[in-house]
Amino acid sequence: MESSHALLLIALIATSAIFHLVQAQDPDQEGFISLDCGLPPTDPSPYIEPITRLKFTSDSNFIQSGQIGRTDTTLQAQFPKQHTTLRYFPDGLRNCYNLTVKKGTNYLIRARFGYGNYDGLNSFPKFDLYVGPNFWMTLDLKRYENFSWEEITHIARSDSLDICLVKNGESIPLISALELRPLPNNSYITTAGLGPRLTLDCGKSRYPDDAYDRAWISYFQDDWKQISTGLTVNTSDSFRLPQAALKTAGIPAFGSSTFVDKEYPDSSQDRVYMYLHFSEVQVLAANETREFDISFNNDSVIQSYKPVYLQSKTVYNKLPVICEDKECVLSLKKTPKSTHPPMLNAIEVFTVTEFLQSETFESDVIAIKNIRATYGVKRISWQGDPCVPRKFLWEGLNCTESTDTYTVPRITSLDLSSSGLTGTIAAEIFHLTNLVKLDLSNNKLVGGVPEFLANMKSLVLLNLTKNDLNGSIPQALRDREKKGLRLLVDGDENNPCRAGACDPKKKFPVLIVALVASAVVVALVALALFFVFRKKKASNHVEAIPRSPTTPLANVASNGISETLIGTKRKKFTYSEVIKMTNNFQRALGEGGFGTVYHGDLDGSQQVAVKLLSQSSTQGYKEFKAEVELLLRVHHINLVNLVGYCDEGDHLALIYEYMSNGDLKHHLSGEAWPGKGKISVLSWNTRLRIAIDAALGLEYLHIGCRPSMVHRDVKSTNILLDEKFSAKIADFGLSRSFQVGGESHVSTVVAGTPGYLDPEYYKTGRLAEMSDVYSFGIVLLEIITNQRVIDQTREKSHITEWTAFMLNRGDITRIMDPNLQGDYNSRSVWRALEVAMLCANPMSEKRPSMSQVIIELKECFRSENSGNSNNQDMNSQNSLEQSMSFDTKVATPSAR
Ligand SMILES: *[C@@H]1O[C@H](CO)[C@@H](O)[C@H](O)[C@H]1NC(C)=O
Ligand SMILES: *[C@@H]1O[C@H](CO)[C@@H](O)[C@H](O)[C@H]1NC(C)=O
Ligand SMILES: *[C@@H]1O[C@H](CO)[C@@H](O)[C@H](O)[C@H]1NC(C)=O
Ligand SMILES: *[C@@H]1O[C@H](CO)[C@@H](O)[C@H](O)[C@H]1NC(C)=O
Ligand SMILES: *[C@@H]1O[C@H](CO)[C@@H](O)[C@H](O)[C@H]1NC(C)=O
Ligand SMILES: *[C@@H]1O[C@H](CO)[C@@H](O)[C@H](O)[C@H]1NC(C)=O
Ligand SMILES: *[C@@H]1O[C@H](CO)[C@@H](O)[C@H](O)[C@H]1NC(C)=O
Ligand SMILES: *[C@@H]1O[C@H](CO)[C@@H](O)[C@H](O)[C@H]1NC(C)=O
Ligand SMILES: *[C@@H]1O[C@H](CO)[C@@H](O)[C@H](O)[C@H]1NC(C)=O
Repeated sequence: MESSHALLLIALIATSAIFHLVQAQDPDQEGFISLDCGLPPTDPSPYIEPITRLKFTSDSNFIQSGQIGRTDTTLQAQFPKQHTTLRYFPDGLRNCYNLTVKKGTNYLIRARFGYGNYDGLNSFPKFDLYVGPNFWMTLDLKRYENFSWEEITHIARSDSLDICLVKNGESIPLISALELRPLPNNSYITTAGLGPRLTLDCGKSRYPDDAYDRAWISYFQDDWKQISTGLTVNTSDSFRLPQAALKTAGIPAFGSSTFVDKEYPDSSQDRVYMYLHFSEVQVLAANETREFDISFNNDSVIQSYKPVYLQSKTVYNKLPVICEDKECVLSLKKTPKSTHPPMLNAIEVFTVTEFLQSETFESDVIAIKNIRATYGVKRISWQGDPCVPRKFLWEGLNCTESTDTYTVPRITSLDLSSSGLTGTIAAEIFHLTNLVKLDLSNNKLVGGVPEFLANMKSLVLLNLTKNDLNGSIPQALRDREKKGLRLLVDGDENNPCRAGACDPKKKFPVLIVALVASAVVVALVALALFFVFRKKKASNHVEAIPRSPTTPLANVASNGISETLIGTKRKKFTYSEVIKMTNNFQRALGEGGFGTVYHGDLDGSQQVAVKLLSQSSTQGYKEFKAEVELLLRVHHINLVNLVGYCDEGDHLALIYEYMSNGDLKHHLSGEAWPGKGKISVLSWNTRLRIAIDAALGLEYLHIGCRPSMVHRDVKSTNILLDEKFSAKIADFGLSRSFQVGGESHVSTVVAGTPGYLDPEYYKTGRLAEMSDVYSFGIVLLEIITNQRVIDQTREKSHITEWTAFMLNRGDITRIMDPNLQGDYNSRSVWRALEVAMLCANPMSEKRPSMSQVIIELKECFRSENSGNSNNQDMNSQNSLEQSMSFDTKVATPSAR
């Protein structure tokens, strides 16, 4: 046990004696995985643990490596049986248990460790734990006395789950027991894909009193008093708490109106969730009430809460809270009308562990594991996720490299040369559909070259040399060779039949290739001439801005546009060029801030969007200058890029990269984008990606820029989509730089778009990042609901009022854009709604930062892409009931 850990899973019960076996609630242990690590083959497996009646199995079928160790017999008396043996891993960097799980199910994962001086060295090891490709924690057994366990909840992203022990220095990782418990879908929602980190009082029985085998310990403070009931509490909700935890409750001892509990996370960075469980245990007369406000670090969680008599109910904070000074204060405060003090039956405290790295594409993983099995590959690195983290990449494999963690890695190269492979070429290889390079050379492979290799679309190099393959090469594969596949097979070097030379039928293709080749040459020549011609013509018109190396960057004054800086990277255009590129402003794309946007064409090579500043705009020139200044400083993949500008007398124009798919609003409304015809509905997945992209762009403005910037006009028409539907934020016309610290909130003329405008900003004129967060929340609500932001024909005219109204009726399907036709994972939708409503909170201090929003949205994205699209799980009213209550009044922007 480890004492400094203060985050506990706790039941407020007076004595631990309650944990005697009462009755088995769920004796089937369905979905439980209970592994006794290092159980010797001579011992019976499975066996029933006498105290808990849990069925433990040897771990030998779940891991291919490691050795069995025995703890010091003199210590064994204090250990639970699972800790008398252990598995340790002297070889390899990463050793993984592979467990068969159910995709989309939330698991409580518990790993137990007891060093027990098994190696006689009396030296506690230190090593890392990973869940799949994600770092979970560093475990230093020295910090614990004799044995410990660690827990985390995690939603399985595929049907197999790797729990890995990774060397972190010299010492040898070990493990004593590994347990997985499926949790119901409707319970610990907010920890989806994340995990609490708990340290529990070991050795106490948890099961069968607790159907999910959570471990509870008794917890009581001096200034608390206990109340209890002998009656049975209805625990039919999804949390299914043990009776013992609910039959007793704590109340303030000295008649105080506030019940306070403090928790101490490990770090002031920890993001904390508290799950509070209630059940009224006293009979209240008709003229009596127990009602209280719950707040967590002064943040209201729920107001006027009333526990229900003998009915288990759970309340939790919907976004994680960061407790500065490592102190989280939970306070339950009696309301004025309440006749009874506040109470609490049980509490769970979780800190969030980020699991951002996506696992390798599931069918690639299945295929490579099948290949491993087929050939009996015994490489120590071939454990855990094949591609990620990259430092543990399986030897002989290569994968797509991605800069973000939410893109799913794919296997692109497989090198099994000189690996002693026998048998035929494995059919499983076909399922590595993104394979570019396949090297099976220098093995003892027999049989023919299979035809399926020709159907592997991405394959560029296929090395089959130095094998005992026989038969002919399939024609389809030879055809692929002509299209660029590099095929290496034995005997090709001196085989006269290569490329079908001996088969008169096969001469044809060669001829065709020759003909095609010459045609290509002709085309290339034509193209080259064309370009020379174009270039010559163009050079008469584009005015090159001389680069002046003598002008230092510091000369860039804030009140003027530095032509030098622009000239080095971008182009200044004359007005006549602007006329030419837009073909005399022929095709308007839409209205941006301060002017119309036209389609343009730069020398036939690049499409652009030209924003012409309308001359009637009085304030325009200043804003224009500000926008150019900003765009010069700002570079981000999710912000629309400035290609050039025009500043000639009265003519001001900005030339941006062209975003071929127009703006988000158009795509949501289904209106046709000029020249695009009918628009198809954006999938929920695409919408989430767009939201993440836009959030990343805003986050960059808020924290990536120095000084930070506020966009001030975030709305769905300002989120543009490129050909791949990546989103970028446009229109910085209203952005204003402001200094961080000192004068941090600059008052400016109120500007923005009705409906998106932060009500607080509207009232005070004070500008902050949080105003963008509000507007982003509105955009997110549009993405989710496809409702108009303001619609006077609706009973609830503003989108936040409408959503809160619908949420309180508890029917998620009526909130969602009907165009999606139910094709989404409700867990991810639910979470996105939570995020949107938090962003759109009328009180700015209650809103999350863009960084928090991004984390949450990525989680939505992940749960969307991990669960099978079970739409039923969250739809029931039951699940909404447990904690969601949006106060329509609170959520209403008070000024418009
Ligand atoms: C886990 O490893 C065992 C032993 O190698 C193997 O039989 C089993 O198929 C693997 N399971 C998964 C899901 O990879
Ligand atoms: C842990 O083990 C040590 C011996 O290594 C022993 O002296 C000590 O009592 C043990 N602690 C507990 C809590 O059992
Ligand atoms: C939870 O949902 C997943 C799919 O989303 C499903 O496979 C699983 O059976 C569900 N688990 C429970 C306990 O309902
Ligand atoms: C327990 O509560 C549920 C509603 O949450 C209800 O449907 C059920 O009938 C109750 N069971 C008992 C035994 O009262
Ligand atoms: C409730 O009513 C009863 C009598 O019906 C009375 O004795 C009791 O004091 C009342 N309690 C409160 C809190 O008013
Ligand atoms: C909570 O609010 C009270 C009064 O508004 C203040 O005194 C206290 O410092 C706040 N506590 C925290 C943790 O912010
Ligand atoms: C693996 O692929 C990456 C790009 O995806 C490439 O940069 C790297 O060189 C490759 N490594 C090997 C060993 O082929
Ligand atoms: C093909 O395999 C042979 C034998 O392993 C090796 O010598 C050769 O370099 C490989 N060729 C390519 C292009 O990888
Ligand atoms: C190729 O080898 C396999 C087994 O090694 C044999 O069964 C088959 O008949 C051979 N085929 C030819 C065309 O030689």
